[in-house]
Amino acid sequence: MTKNLHVSPAKELKGEITFPGDKSISHRAVMIGSLAGGRTKIMNFLPSADCLATVGCFRKLGIEINASGNQVEVYGKGLRGLKPTKEMLDAGNSGTTIRLMTGILSGQPFISKITGDKSIQRRPMRRIVDPLRQMGADIEGRVEGDNIYAPLKISGGVLSPIEYELPVASAQVKSAVLLAGLFAEGETAVIEKNASRDHTERMLAYFGAKIRGSHVWGNKEFSGAEIDIPGDLSSAAFFMVAALLVPKSDLLIRDAGVNPTRTGIIDILHRMGARLEVQGERIVSEEPRADILISGSKLKAIKISGEIIPRIIDEIPIIAVAATQAEGLTEIRGARELRVKESDRIATISSELKKMGANIEELEDGMFIVGPTKLKGAAVKSYGDHRVAMAMAVAALIADGETVIEDTDCIDTSFPGFESILRSVLH
Ligand code: S3P
Repeated sequence: MTKNLHVSPAKELKGEITFPGDKSISHRAVMIGSLAGGRTKIMNFLPSADCLATVGCFRKLGIEINASGNQVEVYGKGLRGLKPTKEMLDAGNSGTTIRLMTGILSGQPFISKITGDKSIQRRPMRRIVDPLRQMGADIEGRVEGDNIYAPLKISGGVLSPIEYELPVASAQVKSAVLLAGLFAEGETAVIEKNASRDHTERMLAYFGAKIRGSHVWGNKEFSGAEIDIPGDLSSAAFFMVAALLVPKSDLLIRDAGVNPTRTGIIDILHRMGARLEVQGERIVSEEPRADILISGSKLKAIKISGEIIPRIIDEIPIIAVAATQAEGLTEIRGARELRVKESDRIATISSELKKMGANIEELEDGMFIVGPTKLKGAAVKSYGDHRVAMAMAVAALIADGETVIEDTDCIDTSFPGFESILRSVLH
């Protein structure tokens, strides 16, 4: 039996909160820590199902990892320290795990197999297979139409460096190539039109790998490090929008990651007229963090497209919720990538918000949303997608009557504790 979440309308959100560690940075800390020499200590690690899938993969590859809550120690064995395993590696629901691991496994002198849950087996892998094959890895998968899907079988070995221009804006593809580049002699470079998250580059630099921008030099060992991970801005985004939409709210979010490749949500909410202040920015373990103060605000519709899309890729479901309360027509274009996330997020968020009375039209590459509309409580689905589930929970806070969100176990993939943190600020 999967869990349903019952949410009633809120009067206000008040308080001061910190969020669990950033998901993307937590994955990378374990991965790069496993390839470093010696101990890596990770503070504020996100112990979510996705990040624990990455831990599980490295344990199977012979790396000792002690994980207790949000503190993790990784005993890396250097670039050549992974051991082959006959077992299938399991990425669970995590696209980051399967795509970045495939990059790392491409550089190993042994054969590995990796898969994940039903959703992962439907997500396109040609985007990583193509450049990794160009580097010399032999990768086979399930071929359907013109794409390739997990399970993947990776026969790694000696890799050659490449210069690769990303055909889709994707930090996962960029990172798969850069991590494979750690095992190629010489300079591997990734070129992207619109900047995607740069946590891999920052963390490799922090560990002392030879990297400049998105250019990495392979076969250079680096040592373990101590990392303190900021709160996940993508998780905080649900609370930021909730506090904006519930009129009398005042919320202070402490220690949220504000890496410029991730702060598109702050730019968008500012453009919509949000009362939102970023305070006390500082850098810890090579990543910027800050406190964010948010108050209930009247929002206006805006047009969203172009270079900002990769910087808000995970926040579009919650931006759609905000848009239902903004005055005018919000237009989101150029976001076709949403169709190949944990669910087809253009279809799933549109259909579920419609059930609550939103005026929303699905487009091939985005959505039209007209607001403000008074939402009404309804029974809605998550489609097994954590961000759809949490976006619907926020919509429920401003609806008339109770909303039931079905199948919300998936929230644990990125945000264990979502419900209890939400209840702690609701009044
Ligand atoms: C991620 C990159 C993004 C994002 C995902 C995490 C990462 O995917 O949607 O949640 O950790 O690199 P794409 O880069 O494939 O768009």
